[in-house]
Amino acid sequence: MKQYRVCVIGCGVIAPNHMEALSSLDNTQLVGVCDVIADRAKAAGEKYGCPAYTDYKQMVRELHPDAVHLCLPHYLHSPVAVDCMEMGCDVLSEKPMNANYKGALAMLEASKRTGCRLGVIFQNRYNTGSVLAKKAIAEGKLGKLLSINGMVMWHRDDAYYASGEWRKSYETSGGGVLINQAIHTLDLCRWLADAPVVDVKATVSHHGDTSAEVEDATEGVITFENGVKGLFYFTINNTFDDSIVVRAHGTEGDLTVTGGRCKIVYKDGRVEEDKPDELQFCGAKAVYGTGHIIQIAHFYEENGDEAVRQTALEALATQKLIADIFASAGIKTADTVSDK
Ligand SMILES: NC(=O)c1ccc[n+]([C@@H]2O[C@H](COP(=O)([O-])OP(=O)(O)OC[C@H]3O[C@@H](n4cnc5c(N)ncnc54)[C@H](O)[C@@H]3O)[C@@H](O)[C@H]2O)c1
Repeated sequence: MKQYRVCVIGCGVIAPNHMEALSSLDNTQLVGVCDVIADRAKAAGEKYGCPAYTDYKQMVRELHPDAVHLCLPHYLHSPVAVDCMEMGCDVLSEKPMNANYKGALAMLEASKRTGCRLGVIFQNRYNTGSVLAKKAIAEGKLGKLLSINGMVMWHRDDAYYASGEWRKSYETSGGGVLINQAIHTLDLCRWLADAPVVDVKATVSHHGDTSAEVEDATEGVITFENGVKGLFYFTINNTFDDSIVVRAHGTEGDLTVTGGRCKIVYKDGRVEEDKPDELQFCGAKAVYGTGHIIQIAHFYEENGDEAVRQTALEALATQKLIADIFASAGIKTADTVSDK
């Protein structure tokens, strides 16, 4: 079994999910960590018994890892991924692919040019509930699929934005609730609809009293090529993090995915539910689920190159949908403003 030497770049909130997974899988070894905040890098290096760096290029030059995982602010995903691939490393990036679509495209081009593998984390696709929902729809068990609805009603305030200034602006984050919190739900809706997007009508708002530039609420209707309607409502103006809900409505039944679990109610009265996975929670916060270790294990699977490439193509399609939502709502982002 090939052993992969892996570095993690960015030692903030999500990084422990990667470091724990890399330390516990049989074919991966965490060999280096990096953060521009030296204390964060040092603490992670001490915890996982590997060298700590503040400059990722120096780390890659000195350690020659097989792969790097990017746990960085959104605007850094593309430039750092491109640099690392040009230095010969495979890259597994956290979601979103990048702060904007243009940078995401550059990542794919670098992967093609260098031959390095590029993957993007969307760990909620690996929840048992998501897997059952996808399978049931793909097998036609809901009959003709008519609509997919996604709802996220969470709470984020200025204390949250103070924990990482990059989260506040379109330039550094690429958006607010849409690209940061609700992207998993949007991605699941798009994945379940399983067709290209042909039209998007959306509104994007800032209703709350945070000092962030980025939106805190968005709603809209997506029309998919197969006629499925995708309705979404995402906000971080709630007083608590309510359970995320994804619903699919078909001619033969309805399904609901919530809390990572899926329940299908068929028209004839039968009910089907997923079996919860037995994996222990691994990482920073329980809300991120157990999907990270599953997706990271897939990234290092033998003969898994095409599946890894698919994760990048899927991430690109979700990134494009985000750009389309902003464009529909008249929000100026790097994707909607001309380069000239
Ligand atoms: N999959 C999930 O459910 C999930 C959950 C949370 C965050 N994320 C994603 O993970 C990524 C990081 O988010 P976070 O919440 O951990 O952010 P964070 O701000 O807590 O961590 C980012 C870290 O990157 C470091 N950094 C910045 N520039 C750097 C550079 N040039 N070199 C090295 N380190 C640098 C920062 O100092 C910081 O410690 C984002 O893409 C975010 O969307 C994903």
